[in-house]
Amino acid sequence: MAGGAVVNTSGAKDYPGRLTLFVFFTCVVAATGGLIFGYDIGISGGVTSMDPFLKKFFPEVFRKKQLAAKNNQYCKYDNQLLQTFTSSLYLAALVSSFFAATVTRVLGRKWSMFAGGLTFLIGAALNGAAENVAMLIIGRILLGVGVGFANQSVPVYLSEMAPARLRGMLNIGFQLMITIGILAAALINYGTAKIKAGWGWRVSLALAAVPAGIITLGSLFLPDTPNSLIERGHPEAAERMLQRIRGADVDVSEEYADLVVASEESKLVQHPWRNILRRKYRAQLTMAIFIPFFQQLTGINVIMFYAPVLFDTLGFKSDASLMSAVITGLVNVFATLVSIFTVDRLGRRKLFLQGGAQMIVCQVVVGTLIAIKFGTSGIGDIPKGYAAAVVLFICLYVAGFAWSWGPLGWLVPSEIFPLEIRPAGQSINVSVNMLFTFVIAQAFLTMLCHMKFGLFYFFAGWVVIMTVFIALFLPETKNVPIEEMVLVWKSHWFWSRFIADEDVHVGAHHVQMAASGGKPAAAAP
Ligand code: BGC
Repeated sequence: MAGGAVVNTSGAKDYPGRLTLFVFFTCVVAATGGLIFGYDIGISGGVTSMDPFLKKFFPEVFRKKQLAAKNNQYCKYDNQLLQTFTSSLYLAALVSSFFAATVTRVLGRKWSMFAGGLTFLIGAALNGAAENVAMLIIGRILLGVGVGFANQSVPVYLSEMAPARLRGMLNIGFQLMITIGILAAALINYGTAKIKAGWGWRVSLALAAVPAGIITLGSLFLPDTPNSLIERGHPEAAERMLQRIRGADVDVSEEYADLVVASEESKLVQHPWRNILRRKYRAQLTMAIFIPFFQQLTGINVIMFYAPVLFDTLGFKSDASLMSAVITGLVNVFATLVSIFTVDRLGRRKLFLQGGAQMIVCQVVVGTLIAIKFGTSGIGDIPKGYAAAVVLFICLYVAGFAWSWGPLGWLVPSEIFPLEIRPAGQSINVSVNMLFTFVIAQAFLTMLCHMKFGLFYFFAGWVVIMTVFIALFLPETKNVPIEEMVLVWKSHWFWSRFIADEDVHVGAHHVQMAASGGKPAAAAP
């Protein structure tokens, strides 16, 4: 039998347990929840650049687009109603993630995933059949509810299932599925845009049912996490599940004992929403707000939603614009793999800092390249070679995001909350993320019209701020068991002042280990 916990470099424990096939498969299935979010992000931009779609639902934009051949390139897509189509989904996701918090806590993580998939399925059907703007927008609201539930439950599920040493890798499966969803959407748009009869957009929108079907069915086969089982009063089932996910020959007694302690503490908490405001959770609350806010202020969704529109604006032909979205989509997927394989070794901080620096440089270069050609008038033509350089730097920027803020924006918030405030904390994370996804989706075309190439400098400025924020305020969380994260905050130069000694309740064994100078502790009784 494997031994008990050992102390790792951060001062927290390292439980025995490897990557079992069972945990791997449950995590892959759960991660497919990311597909619906990704598909959605990727599909809107392409659809809104298809002429038959614009003619049917947004004739005014269509007319303006025709005129723009001679006029200001920066402003040809600026239209509030069109932006509402893209962004309505995110408002719905924002609101629904609060309801999802209750479902996730009371019924378990699995039923939130199921509810998310099912609502998304209905939304997809409505969108594919849309005859008017109302149907389009109601469909998108349902899609949004689906995303709210999935993004609430999936990251938490993954972080709870994973052994601490592999948590980063398994959790980033979610982001990987997001990027695969975005890429699939870009490819599908590329194909459907070629349908001469003009109903290609319907296929694009209706195909959202495929990822929705996958997570809806998949979730039915998923077991719930030991953490959630204990919290909901099923201690024996929880212990059996822990044994199953860590491996039959592994001694899980210590990890189990610590889960029970965490659960006892969480039972004392009646109001997770009020509780999260307590002084001792100041660090977690700050991260739950700032990490998603910053993730969106990287400006990534300008590329993700509007890549075809943006490339079109830059003077690429319609087909070439859709193709460029495929290229950025591919870069996004492959660069995410880099973080999967490095996040538990290099740690979160190194990826954040390196990715941030890369994004800053690329945004300044892209802004400058556009400024040189279009200036402030927005009139100009981009020669082929020049356009290739713009695409190259956009790709480098996407890569920087894809191994830093993309995956870590979901991983870090899901691993820092103690059990008692985890669903509430995750809801704040999801809703802040959605709020700013909404703001950017809603404002981008108008911002481009007014700020022109300066928009890229604007986002670069934000990335400078967030990189400094990480350097100063985010401690390293790699390899630390999720129910022991308090130790990390307690030893941080800034956040420690908010946490009193008596707030640090980790399993009794930890105290024993600390006292023995970090030598391996005996297996729990
Ligand atoms: C973000 C999305 C973004 C995507 C790009 C996700 O982590 O939350 O807003 O579109 O990454 O891959």
